This record gives sequence, structure tokens and C-alpha cells, in this order.
Amino acid sequence: MTTTIEAVRLIGPGVDRVDGPLKVTGEASYPGDFGFPEMAHAALVRATVAAGRIRGIESAAAQAAPGVVAVITHRNAPHLGRGPDTPVWRQPPPPLQDDRILHYGQYVGVVVADTAEQATAAARLIEVEYEPAEALLDLDDPRAEVVTNPWGMDAHRGDVAAGLASADVTVDASYSTPDETNNPMGLFATVAAWEGDALTVHDSTQWPQSVKATLAAAFGVPESGIRVLAPFVGGGFGAGLRVWPHVVLAALAARTAKRPVKLVLTRPEMFTGVGHRTRTVQHIRLGADRSGQLTVLDHEAKNSIAMEDDNWEPVASDSAWAYACPNVDVRDLQARLNIPVPTSMRAPGQAQGNFALESALDELSYAVGVDPVEMRLRNYAEIQPQLGLPWSSKALRACLEQGAERFGWQARDPRPRSMQDGNWLVGYGMAGVSFFWFQPPCQARASIMADGTAYVRSSATDIGTGTYTVMTQLAADLLGLRLDQVRFGLGDTDMPPGGVEGGSGLTAGLGTAVWAACRGVIQACLDTVADDPGSPLRGCRIDDVTAADGRIRHRYDPARGEAYSEILARHGLDELTAPGDSTPPQPQDVGMAPAGAFAARFAEVRVDPDLGLVRVARVVSAIDGGRILNEKTATSQVIGGTVGGIGMALLEETVTDPDTGRITNANLGDYLVPVNADIPDLDVLFVGEPDRFNPIGVKGVGEVGLVGMAAAIANAVFHATGKRIRSLPITVDQLV
Ligand code: MOS
Repeated sequence: MTTTIEAVRLIGPGVDRVDGPLKVTGEASYPGDFGFPEMAHAALVRATVAAGRIRGIESAAAQAAPGVVAVITHRNAPHLGRGPDTPVWRQPPPPLQDDRILHYGQYVGVVVADTAEQATAAARLIEVEYEPAEALLDLDDPRAEVVTNPWGMDAHRGDVAAGLASADVTVDASYSTPDETNNPMGLFATVAAWEGDALTVHDSTQWPQSVKATLAAAFGVPESGIRVLAPFVGGGFGAGLRVWPHVVLAALAARTAKRPVKLVLTRPEMFTGVGHRTRTVQHIRLGADRSGQLTVLDHEAKNSIAMEDDNWEPVASDSAWAYACPNVDVRDLQARLNIPVPTSMRAPGQAQGNFALESALDELSYAVGVDPVEMRLRNYAEIQPQLGLPWSSKALRACLEQGAERFGWQARDPRPRSMQDGNWLVGYGMAGVSFFWFQPPCQARASIMADGTAYVRSSATDIGTGTYTVMTQLAADLLGLRLDQVRFGLGDTDMPPGGVEGGSGLTAGLGTAVWAACRGVIQACLDTVADDPGSPLRGCRIDDVTAADGRIRHRYDPARGEAYSEILARHGLDELTAPGDSTPPQPQDVGMAPAGAFAARFAEVRVDPDLGLVRVARVVSAIDGGRILNEKTATSQVIGGTVGGIGMALLEETVTDPDTGRITNANLGDYLVPVNADIPDLDVLFVGEPDRFNPIGVKGVGEVGLVGMAAAIANAVFHATGKRIRSLPITVDQLV
């Protein structure tokens, strides 16, 4: 077994989801599907002002309502601790700790009753009297505290003023993107059951370990007694990254009622309670020489954050290394507002930042008179400009060239408003994407059982991305087993800590841990037979062997080997188990800059100039995701991301009433997302090589599929119409 996996079996048309049959037959249990005997149900009461204080709460009627077990408000709630900080955000403040209101929809009470209907009905009987204060809701409100990038990602190179002064051509423009809401299909649910200080929780989460740590801190109980389960999650898109107040409230309700409690959020509660993508305003200044070579790049972004919160939203920071440019300044600012606590939403920050940067580059390409694809190629970053190190892999050039070829870019007449099909104006637009790198530390365990099958597990989750499938494939490949001989366990904190499913990093992080665990199990087999005169593998070292057909065999003498089952049987073992651990190295130690995915997106739009209608006619996405473990699930990720990107470009916007802070479209009827009729054929092409930063060669593809679509579509709309739209979503009123 060498440091690279046997690629042949893993690349190709892909395999079906191993959990597909469970899902389509309804056997896969999502958090809200679980129940306990004697379980009660909780319903939440939310604030109807965005700022101020609670003057009074009248809860006697609710308390007396049929089936009600408990009513909890800040008046009778115990002290709850705040969960531990993570590297990129604090957990949201614990609920019901005082009478202050920081945002519309903040929880001010929870009602526990025998049935969900009784809890909901009683919750409506609670009357809250507020002493409202003026809410800060506008990103440009001068009273709002503005904080600088807390992640140390602002970047400066060279001299921006000098670069601007010497540029032949400049672009200076502002762009804006709206609030958007993650809206996973599965309503988030928490089911909590206490036994003394021990707590079992089923929760919609992308990070079970974090839920465990936060609940331990909230209630001051040992983490060792808490078990969090999330074997299946009905989508997340980032909404499941943080541990939300309702999770703590479900556990508090169960502790107070002395019964297990289930809490399922409503769709409107999903708009205020599990985060959102923050709006941005961005100012970009670009300068270039007459050939289109960038001389200066200045990108300042401001987004919103909630009061008393941090949120990972690096909007401008990727612009520092996306292209080669001598004079660079990127800055991220955040304004504190009375808004619901945000979260990462698929490609947090990057989605918004890329829209501004790739729109501005498109504007520059017209100003210079260079083809937009050529513009990206001329400014190609051959090495990572911030670190000054070679990339662990980068096939952006192949993305641009092969994507353009597949799309038929050369048929494009460069002049705006020059292409037409009947009454439709036709536009071709494109965008480059350099997605950030992230890989969470992960642990896994692998066991070979007496019957020669394997059980591999980790507490990480599969939010629908295909983690079960690709990890099963990976373990099967590494252990030389068939897919049906490998069982993969996920979503249980009694398993080794699996790391966060986020930042497109889990396949690399968990995959590397699985790689190490499987390698460890083979090593354990070799250790077992090291002095075994009956074993043909006696004395073999791990690099001498390979695994195939349920056997370990000598790499150069395939006849010399034996089955796992034979090894275990001869030594009277039920199983052999090994841990696997992955912590990514420091770039300087390995002499390379870790690369996330790269992409080039190409879109054709049709615009009806009389009606202002925009239709996306086709999309080609060329993606460098390193080694693709399963083309089918990876393609599925990119298609899903592309649909999200089309939504961002044309439809999605969470609308807040500027007077009250209420979200006015907090339902799936009024919050617009693309439907089938909005989506054309989406062509996905994978290019590139296995990455060098981890032994399995993968880069994540969970988020890159969304990034670049908004700019590609806006650029196509400009090409079709000659109108530059710098504010998302692109709506009819901007085009007529
Ligand atoms: Mo993703 S926004 O890191 O779930």
C-alpha cells in the first residue's frame, strides 16, 4: 500500500448512493423521525420587535391550556452557558437569559405540551409586552458598529495608489448582494432525552461534536454523558454548522418537563433561527495595462453581523490570491445590526465576493478590449500569490480552456447586444473561480470483522452530499473489498470525532482519516501474522502489500497472500481495529499552498428586452476538484450548487421590513428559488489531477458549484443587453 490509492477503481462513471435504497423506502430516519416513550413536544414564542426589552409576559393562559406541561421564559429559565468558540465563530448566545431583544424572531419563550398541536396552540396564548428601541437594520447606518475582519484574512501587497496611478485602464464600481436564506428542505428538529445528567439528542446538524460540546457548556454537565445522533440530515447548506438556541431550548424543555421533548422548527422559524447569508456592499477598483495585465486590485466588502456574535463571512479575501497582481488590498468589514444571527451559506463570502470580482474583471475586459476568457488567462496566478508557494494542484487553465471549448465560446460575437434569436437577446458570459481551501481535522476507526467484512465509522454527518457513498467506496478500495462488504457509520458522537461537514472539506479530511484507519487495519493484520509460520504474509511490511478481493497479498507476488477472514480465524479474533487521524500539514512544512477547487463557469442567457425576462439557456461548468471519488455524486453536487447559483443570480432575496425587522417573505411561497422550469441542462466537466496536499488527492466540490454562477449570468446579461447589473438578484425592473 503506497501513499496513493488505486485510482482505477475510483474514477469513472461513479456508483449509486449506498444509502439511496434507505432514503427512497423511508427507512432512513431523520432527526425529527425519532421519538421516545412519554415524549412531550415543544413550540417556540418569538419576539415581534427587532430591538428593545420585554416589559411583561402574560403566560397564565398558556400554562392553563390543555396538555401544557411547562412554560419557560427568561423569568424562570436557569442560567445557561455559552458554547465554546470555534476557530471561525462563537456559538450564538444562549436563549432566555435576560429581557433584552436583539433581533426580530428571537426566542422569548418555549411551551411544552403533550402534543405538538397543544404546544403550538398554547404558545399563541402568550402575550409579550415590549419596550421597543430603535433597531439598526441598514448596513450603512452610521450608528452601526463596524468591526474589521476577525480572521486575519485582509491582505495587502505592493502599493495600490501607485498601481492605480500607473494603470492604463481602470474600473471603479460598487456591487451589492442581498440577504439569502439557506432553506434546507428538512425542517430542523431536535429530540432530547435526559437520564440524570446524561443526555441523548437527535439533531439536524452538520457537526455533532459541536452540538455535544455546546450542550455540555449550556447545562454544565460532563460531555462524556452526552450523545448526539444525526445519521441522516435533510440538507444544511451551512444552516447546520452552528448550534442554535432552539437546540439548547429543546434540551432545556426536556430537563424542565422531566420527559423527552421533540421540537421541530416551522418554515418561518427557519428564516430567523438557523442563520442566513448576509447581504454585502462591495467596492472594487481594478487597473490594468493595455494588454489586460492587472496592475492593481482593491476590494473592500462590508457585510452584516448580529449583535453579540461573530460569523465567518470572508467576502473579499479570496480576491487577494485569485489572480496574479502586484498591488493588492482586500478588506472585509462587518456592521453590527439587529438582525437574526447569520451563518455560512454554501460558499459563505466567496459566493458574494466572486460576483463582485468577476463582474469587475468582465467590465475591465470590455474596457481593455480583451476577451473575458483571455483576461483570466493573462492574469493567471501560477503560484499562490499570498504564500509565494506552488499550488498543491491547479487546473484553472484547463477549466478555462476546456470549458470554453465545450461551451462553444468562440462563436460569441464580443459586441454587447449583438446576438439575437427572434425577439430574444442572446448573451454569453463567464466567470473564473478560485475557491478557498479548508480541511477539518478528523478521526475515524476501521475494523475488519471475522467474516472478512469491514465496519468503518466516524461521528461526521452526511447532509445529502454523498459522504456515506464516497467513504464506503474509499474504504472498500483501500481494504480490497466490495462495496457491499463495507458498512460505514456516521452521525453519532459515540464514534470518533469526525469534524465539521462544511467548507467543502469533509471528503478530504474524513477521507484522509479513513485512509489512515484502513492502512492501520492492514498494518494490524500484518502485525498479527508477523511471526506466524502459517501465514504467507509473515514478515511483510505495509509497503510490500496491497489489498484486493478480500485479501492482503504481496504487491509483486499476488499468489502470496491470504484473506482477512483466514487471518482472524487462525488467531481466534472477532475483529481487528485501528484508528485513523487526519490533521492537515502546515503549507510551509510541505512547501506548497493547499488548493481548493477551481472552476470556470459559462452561461448562455436569453433576455426579452420588452418584458425584462431572463432565461438561462445552458450552463457549462468545468471543475478542478482534484481526484473525483465518485463522478455521479460529485456531478450531483455541482448541479445542486449551480441551481443555487442561478437562484442567487435571478431569484433569491430575503426581504426585511426596514421598520420592524420582520422578514416579509419567510416562507417558500414568497422566497423565490429556481424550479425545474428555470433550470436548463447543466453540463459538468471535471478536469485536473489528484491533489498533492492529502494522500487521497481530493479537493472538495460541495460549494464550488455555486460560486461564479451569479457573475457568469450577470456578465451574460450585459453581453445580451449592454446593461451592467451590479445588484443581485437581477430583476425585471433593472432590465426594462
Ligand atoms: Mo458549508 S456553508 O461550509 O455547510
